[in-house]
This record gives sequence, C-alpha cells and structure tokens, in this order.
Amino acid sequence: MPSWELCQIDGALVLQPLSGLAQGVVRVDFVTGRTAYRIRRGGGRKGELARAIGIPRANRGLRVLDLTAGLGRDTFLLASWGCAVLALERHPMIHALLADGLRRAWADPETAALLDDDPQRLQLLEADAREYLKTIAPSDFDVLYLDPMHPSRQKSAKVRKEMQAFQEVVGSDSDDAELLAVARASGVARVVVKRPVKSDLLAPGVAFSQKGKTVRYDVYLLPRVGETESLD
Ligand SMILES: C[S@@+](CC[C@H](N)C(=O)[O-])C[C@H]1O[C@@H](n2cnc3c(N)ncnc32)[C@H](O)[C@@H]1O
Repeated sequence: MPSWELCQIDGALVLQPLSGLAQGVVRVDFVTGRTAYRIRRGGGRKGELARAIGIPRANRGLRVLDLTAGLGRDTFLLASWGCAVLALERHPMIHALLADGLRRAWADPETAALLDDDPQRLQLLEADAREYLKTIAPSDFDVLYLDPMHPSRQKSAKVRKEMQAFQEVVGSDSDDAELLAVARASGVARVVVKRPVKSDLLAPGVAFSQKGKTVRYDVYLLPRVGETESLD
C-alpha cells in the first residue's frame, strides 16, 4: 500500500504518493476545475441533486449540513445554488486539501462571486459527522446530505487516477449505514443520500429517489405528525 503526503506545488496543497510507485496527484480546484466550469455554465441547478435537496421548491436559501464533504464538489455546487452549507470532513488530509481549495476559491474574485462573496454560504469543519450530529438541534438545518464512499467505486476500472488516490487514502466508509441512522435520528426533516444508481438502499424507508445516469439520490423524510397513525 503506498503512503501519501501533502505538499505544496504551485501555491496549492496536493496529495501525492511517497513511494513514487503509485500514480495520481489530488488537489481541490474550484477556480479552473470542472465544478466551477459546470457552475459558470449554469449546470445542474434544476437537476437531480438540486431536486433531491428541495432547492427548486424552496422560497429561501436552504441550510444544508454536508456530512461527508470529501473534495467538496457537491458542497460547492449547493452553495453556488444559494444554500448555506456547513461541510464536515473527518479525514485530516482530505480536510486540509479542501480547506486549501476553498482558501484559493475565496481569494479569486470570480470564484468568490459564484458564492455571492458571502462567507456564510460555505463553511468547513474537521469533524466526524456522527459526533457533530449530537450537538445540533433539528431546527438548525433543513437538509442533511451524505455521500459516503461506496465499495463498487473502488472496484471500477474506469475510475480516474485522482479518484483512485482519493480512495486509497480514505478507504471505504464502512460505517455509512450507522451515519445514516444517526442522521435520521437527529430530527432534521430531510436526509439525502447519494448512491451509485444500481446499488441497494443504504436503509429502507426512502420517500422518493432522484435518478441520474450513474448516481441516485435517496430522500428520507421525517414522518409528519399524525402520519404514523394514518398508516395503521
Ligand atoms: C465520496 S466522498 C464525498 C465526495 C463529495 N460529496 C464530493 O462531492 O467531493 C466521502 C467523504 O466522506 C468522508 N466521511 C465519511 N464518513 C464521515 C463521517 N462520519 N464524518 C465526516 N466525514 C466522513 C470521507 O472521509 C470522504 O472524504
């Protein structure tokens, strides 16, 4: 197994292999990368992720707690669509990469404008979401969002080198079902889970799913008062 180190290249923090045997360098780039390109072209605002979160029907900016920030692509998209996102990442190296990418994003006027120059739109914490969820009140957030690593992603021969490196460092999130259970017990009204489109449900009880070509967003809703009785 290669080990990985963080180092500075051209003013950005990058993750690269210590041994030189493995390939792949990972860095977060919202200034010139694919996420910013997609946002600048207006892509996705009415797509599956936005609909699963409830953005098209909301009449205000939703408060989203992203429990699995990773390299921050979903977080950045949600923030650019008007949500106030607090992103949590527990792996220190991944947290450092994302924090560095966000620092460069805020320093670039065009990229900061994608978030309306508002620091409240995207905040990042190094934390394990299972612990953090114990500290919140149900009214603190409108939506909890989870995108745990999925085992099938690790087997895919097509995953890009960057993704392979990311997967080697993070490993598999084998506690994903536990995280979903803690999220659903938090009392926040809506919990959204991103899954490969053909994978099993992480837990039963999905209210509806938004399906794309490769991924699916499973939406869990808190039962409304009286709903349990009416189902009996
Ligand atoms: C598949 S990646 C998320 C990708 C992200 N949605 C994106 O758009 O870049 C999953 C990430 O969640 C993190 N993670 C998994 N379980 C977590 C937990 N309980 N608390 C905080 N972070 C967690 C992992 O360390 C990993 O970086």
